[in-house]
Amino acid sequence: MAKESVLVLDFGGQYNQLIARRVRECNVYCEVKPYTTSLEEIRQEAPIGIIFTGGPNSVYDEHSPQVDPGIFQLGIPILGICYGCQLMAHHLGGKVTKAQEDSAREYGKTETCFDTACRLFADVPETGVTWMSHGDYMEKVPDGFSLVAHSAACPNVAICDEKRRFYGVQFHPEVNHTENGLAMIRNFLYKACGAKGEWTMGDYKDIAIASIRDKVKDGKVLLALSGGVDSSVAAALVAEAVGSQLTCVFVDHGLMRLNEGDEVEEAFRKWNINFVRANAEELFLSKLAGVAEPERKRKIIGEEFIRVFEAEAKKIGKVDYLVQGTIYPDVIESGAGDAAVIKSHHNVGGLPDYVDFKEIIEPLRMLFKDEVRQLGRELGLPEYLVMRQPFPGPGLAIRVIGDITREKLDTLRKADFIFRDEISKAHLEQTMNQYFAVLTNMRSVGVMGDGRTYDYTLALRSVTTTDFMTADWARIPYEVLDRVSVRIVNEVPGINRIVYDITSKPPATIEWE
Ligand code: XMP
Repeated sequence: MAKESVLVLDFGGQYNQLIARRVRECNVYCEVKPYTTSLEEIRQEAPIGIIFTGGPNSVYDEHSPQVDPGIFQLGIPILGICYGCQLMAHHLGGKVTKAQEDSAREYGKTETCFDTACRLFADVPETGVTWMSHGDYMEKVPDGFSLVAHSAACPNVAICDEKRRFYGVQFHPEVNHTENGLAMIRNFLYKACGAKGEWTMGDYKDIAIASIRDKVKDGKVLLALSGGVDSSVAAALVAEAVGSQLTCVFVDHGLMRLNEGDEVEEAFRKWNINFVRANAEELFLSKLAGVAEPERKRKIIGEEFIRVFEAEAKKIGKVDYLVQGTIYPDVIESGAGDAAVIKSHHNVGGLPDYVDFKEIIEPLRMLFKDEVRQLGRELGLPEYLVMRQPFPGPGLAIRVIGDITREKLDTLRKADFIFRDEISKAHLEQTMNQYFAVLTNMRSVGVMGDGRTYDYTLALRSVTTTDFMTADWARIPYEVLDRVSVRIVNEVPGINRIVYDITSKPPATIEWE
């Protein structure tokens, strides 16, 4: 257990893990636990502060989540956010009411005024935008509390009782739309809870390792390693925790970028684990021979991937735990409902049905991507693995347009490497989120030396995006594009024309297939 920790009590709000992440950003360890966590457990863990999250309910709903009122007697500072604020007010003698249509009900960005004499708002500008999302409001503030923020529509945006160090805000300080939200959370941690802020990702690593050891004991652990950031960091973490009890199965489908398979294998050599590289290039290429339709390619790769993994897992026998590199954004996305399937993404998420194991371990489930990268660094993974850009599960199969041959894959690998190399030399990696080459199935006439060529057209694609759901094409300087073009045409036989994709998503997608 960390020396200094904050407990986030989960009341079902959508931003709960974001709250946890903000606390970690302030160098304080934190855990999200259900609102049903017993008083006894809280007492034992002795957090320096407690945060009540938001939630979809109204405190007056028949089955709305409640807390043991004893929590207010522990002498621990509490920050209530949205529903958490109303819950605190309700329990401590205030009155929460359903807002009428046009009065205090608020959604979205709201101009708010703060009383900066309150610890929570110390050194924060007196006015700023907050992100509201609440239907109920506090009609009567509990005894001992004062009002410390208001908006045009609502006089009771924030309350505080400095003596008991209880704070409540109707808005969400954890989301980026709230100006200075992080400063408010920092104020709660440092000024109200007295945090020292000594926690680092290195501590997270130690805690995660201890908890994996504790769970796994002398059991056998299996992990499907894709070479992507998430599965690599999960593998390194479990490797550090249980060493030779871990078997990593790396299905090499032969659709990786230049040297990628070797790089992944190399990175894991330092751990005393069982590393299985299933060289299945032949198998995948034979199954994909003559297949031009993108969704068919994905389906074949998805199925074969599972089959190869399953065959390797069978050799190991019964395993106790299967590790998955699920990270927090995957957890959100998997609950995203029934949006139309534009591309069926092949991920290893489907594996558990096929492998005999007792339980799944998801050690990165609470982390956001940048935190995962940070953890990877702490574990000593090389920078090229930690900073790897997203790479689709079906690999280069969906970047060779039309049917796939080994020759075309090799051509694409060389061209893609040159593109990445020039981006790196120009120090542009941080200005774009994904960049790669696509081998089109179009050939055109060119001239090289004195001869006519009739070779393939290569497309370069580079995008900027925050969520990969929408994207803009990256404005790569012409000189860089020029160097890439000259090098590829000179160094890669079979390509005589380079085009740069200048469509955004939508209407295009990031990948070409
Ligand atoms: P699109 O092409 O849909 O891509 O705009 C959005 C993001 O998803 C990646 N992508 C995939 N990832 N399996 C994956 O694991 C797939 O089949 C797949 N297709 C696209 C793409 O690289 C981009 O990051």
